Amino acid sequence: MGACTHPGDGGASLSTWARVGQSLAGAPAQSLREHGYAVIDGFWGEQWSEGYRREMRHLLDHNLMLPNKTQFLDARGQPIQCTKPNIFELDLHNEEVRRLLPVFGELFGSSALVEGLNDAVDGLALVPGTDATTVKLQYNAGGGGCFPLHYDNPGPPNKRRVTMLTYLNPGWEEGDGGELQLVPWMSKPVTVAPKMDRVVIFLSDVVLHRVLPASKGRLCFTVWIDGAGTNAPEDNAIDMRKFPDLDTLAVHLALSPAQRLLARGVYREAFARSLRDCMGDAPGSAEMLESHDKYILAMRANRGLSALVERLRAYHDVLQTMNGFTV
Ligand code: FE2
Repeated sequence: MGACTHPGDGGASLSTWARVGQSLAGAPAQSLREHGYAVIDGFWGEQWSEGYRREMRHLLDHNLMLPNKTQFLDARGQPIQCTKPNIFELDLHNEEVRRLLPVFGELFGSSALVEGLNDAVDGLALVPGTDATTVKLQYNAGGGGCFPLHYDNPGPPNKRRVTMLTYLNPGWEEGDGGELQLVPWMSKPVTVAPKMDRVVIFLSDVVLHRVLPASKGRLCFTVWIDGAGTNAPEDNAIDMRKFPDLDTLAVHLALSPAQRLLARGVYREAFARSLRDCMGDAPGSAEMLESHDKYILAMRANRGLSALVERLRAYHDVLQTMNGFTV
């Protein structure tokens, strides 16, 4: 796992927003730079994390969380909307919602996260202001609720650069499920338990991830922040002349958004498996799998791309065997 720190230790005299900036610097920033993600325990402190949890419980108790809506293109390129079973969400862009939730409202209006991250990590170029930030509250009701493998930023015109998740589950135990699983490029997956006041920050355009099936209810909220230079044309191209061998390419792709061009091909079985885990027999499941299969067929039709994917799959197989992991 990447950096895991306790910003609350020794920071009691600071205001929460000042502490937010400080707690992003140091080990979390280094982990974000080197691995593309960081895990920070006790990020908000007891008072604020309890406040977030209380407001989410209020929404649940009053049936104000809405069933998930996911849009995707079917195998014929037509947009389809479906619902991931057991997932309920609420977007804070709705002003009426924010009026009900003063603690979340303050988070939505604060620039502390953007400033703290921009100060701590060179090159993120996160954009300030509420137009560039999305905050979504989410309840996973259990019953196998999960998310398939995906990037939060799948490509242009999406501008998301950073994803920040906060988990709010004081009673979470091994076996409850609902863990976040990060799949850093060509590396061993990292499973993160959704424990109370645990924050996970990762690069939205670089870190492939999924949510494992939950058997118990699970609360979290996500902040997505846009970057000024996200999805520049060079982020979405691979100039093979720059890479003398597969090792060099694999290392480059580990922190490059260009890995998105290859990931679905390299990890194709894991993508399909995670889709089946998430959707079961729910409406839209067959269309999602069909769309995935069509993507893989189109990739095979591109001989140069297909050859590179097959070489990377073989390379990944060797890494899995050598290091004893599977994706
Ligand atoms: Fe995600």
